[in-house]
Amino acid sequence: MSRVRLAPSLLACDLARVADEVAAAEAAGADLLHFDVMDGSFVPNLTFGPLLCDAVRRYSRLPLDVHLMVADAAPLIEPFACAGANRIAVHVEAAPHLHRLLADIRSRGMAAGVALNPLTPVDAIDEAWPFVDFVLVMTVNPGFGGQHLIPEAAQRLARLAGERERRGLATELAVDGGVDTSNASWLRSLGADILIAGTSFFGAADRCAAAAMLRGEDQ
Ligand code: DX5
Ligand code: ZN
Repeated sequence: MSRVRLAPSLLACDLARVADEVAAAEAAGADLLHFDVMDGSFVPNLTFGPLLCDAVRRYSRLPLDVHLMVADAAPLIEPFACAGANRIAVHVEAAPHLHRLLADIRSRGMAAGVALNPLTPVDAIDEAWPFVDFVLVMTVNPGFGGQHLIPEAAQRLARLAGERERRGLATELAVDGGVDTSNASWLRSLGADILIAGTSFFGAADRCAAAAMLRGEDQ
C-alpha cells in the first residue's frame, strides 16, 4: 500500500492570511491543497472561485485539488484550468452530462474526479470508472467544515477499493469530511489514498504533529 497523501482544506484556514496558511501547510508536508467551491445552490454555502485559486497558485507549487460543489460545473472548468487547478472533482448528483465534464477536465491536462454525497450508492459511478482519475467520497453533507464524519458513508471506501481491484485500475480514493486523528487510521485501512482534512489540520495547535498523526507516521 502506498503512503497516504494529505490534502489540507483551505476552507478551514484563516482566509485573511491565506499565503501564510498555505506556507504552513507546505511546511507540515501537505501533498495537495484542497479548494472547496460552493455556489449557494447545490450546497447552502458560498465560498470562493477561480480568483482565489489563481492567487493561491502564485504562492504554492503543490497540486491544487478543486472540489466543485455547484449545481452547474460546466462553465467553471475552463476558468479553474486557467487559474492553475491540477485536479477537479464534480459531484455525480449534479452532473447529468458527467462524461462530457470529465472529458473536458482531462482534455485540459487536469486529473478528473467524481464526488459522491454521503448516501449516494457506489454503483452510481459504475460506468464512470474508465473516465476518472480519482473518486472523492464525502463523509459529511457538503457545505460546511467542522462536521462529524458519517461512518456509513466512509464504509463505501472498502466497496470502492474492492471494485477498483476487480477492474484492475489505479483510481485514487479520496475521503472528505470530518477526517481527524481519531478516524484517520480506520479510513486508511478502508482504502483511502488521500485524506482531506480541514478543521483537524488548520485547527491544530501543532500542524506538523497533526499531519503526522493523520498519515499514521507517529506510530
Ligand atoms: C465540506 C468540504 C470539505 C471540508 C472538510 O463540504 O467539501 O472539504 O472542508 O472540512 P472538515 O475537515 O473540517 O470536515
Ligand atoms: Zn471538499
